[in-house]
Amino acid sequence: WATYAPYVAAILALKKERNAVILAHNYMTPEIYHGVADVVGDSLQLAMEATKVEADVIVQCGVHFMAETSKILSPDKIVLIPDMEAGCSLAESITADGIAEMRAKYPGAPVVTYVNTTAEVKAASDICCTSSNAAQIVAAMESDTVIMTPDQYLAQNIAQQVPQKNVVWWEGSCIVHEQYTAKDLRDFREWNPGTRLIAHPECPPDVVNEADFSGSTSGIIKYVTDEKPEKAMLITECSMASNIADQLPEVDFVGPCNMCPYMKKITLEKILWSLHTMSEPVEVDPKVAEQARVAVQRMIDLSQ
Ligand code: 13P
Ligand code: SF4
Repeated sequence: WATYAPYVAAILALKKERNAVILAHNYMTPEIYHGVADVVGDSLQLAMEATKVEADVIVQCGVHFMAETSKILSPDKIVLIPDMEAGCSLAESITADGIAEMRAKYPGAPVVTYVNTTAEVKAASDICCTSSNAAQIVAAMESDTVIMTPDQYLAQNIAQQVPQKNVVWWEGSCIVHEQYTAKDLRDFREWNPGTRLIAHPECPPDVVNEADFSGSTSGIIKYVTDEKPEKAMLITECSMASNIADQLPEVDFVGPCNMCPYMKKITLEKILWSLHTMSEPVEVDPKVAEQARVAVQRMIDLSQ
């Protein structure tokens, strides 16, 4: 922490000077998560928080689609991302043309799009979802067939939870969660009996089926905090366990984890630079933002 302290102090001072808030995703490293963030959460919590911000500036510590979502919901605020290169394999997997392709293939079916997408893709969709409300949103659609984009694995996991719907999907995936296999989990369980296996729903369905619990990043934190298992393996991004390990000394966090190279582009140094130079501002074409806002707001209204 000694190496981080000067950065933390400088960021906190500049944050005040700029009248800025830092919205940080659960995958940020501990020095960001505990040191400088005003709000931490999963994608849904961060989107909801963006609608309530009173400060002039939002510094989004997460990936680009999260900053875009904040800009869509708070168009009058300055939204900064400390590194423009903080992308997402899911967001890169589909364009608005992909949505049109799915609509042509399944005429009349509503498009439920994961928030891990660009503003243009959201604007072309009927409603958004996150990992914490996807089942609820899909179940609420009137049509029997529901198109889910772009995460094939989230869609397949939701299809199991909402069997009354014919869920069809786009073939995108998350480079962090697609790496886990059901065999990894079975082997791990055999070698480490008693470990609670907790998986994010971006993992393939056989992985989720092998796990004891599956939920959004905040759902995972809540589960571990409530249950306090003796040993837990978080089948998701590495910072998740690092961020909660100190508050849960009774839980032994075991097993390998995968790092998201995009999330890890956000560092204390870049946050400081971002506040100092007011860079990089995230802009969304107002017409696109207006349409995308409809899809995001529908999701928020259905999640209250
Ligand atoms: P959550 O909405 O569960 O935080 O997930 C976001 C994400 O990018 C997970 O990879
Ligand atoms: Fe995208 Fe996966 Fe990284 Fe989340 S963990 S930001 S879904 S690449």
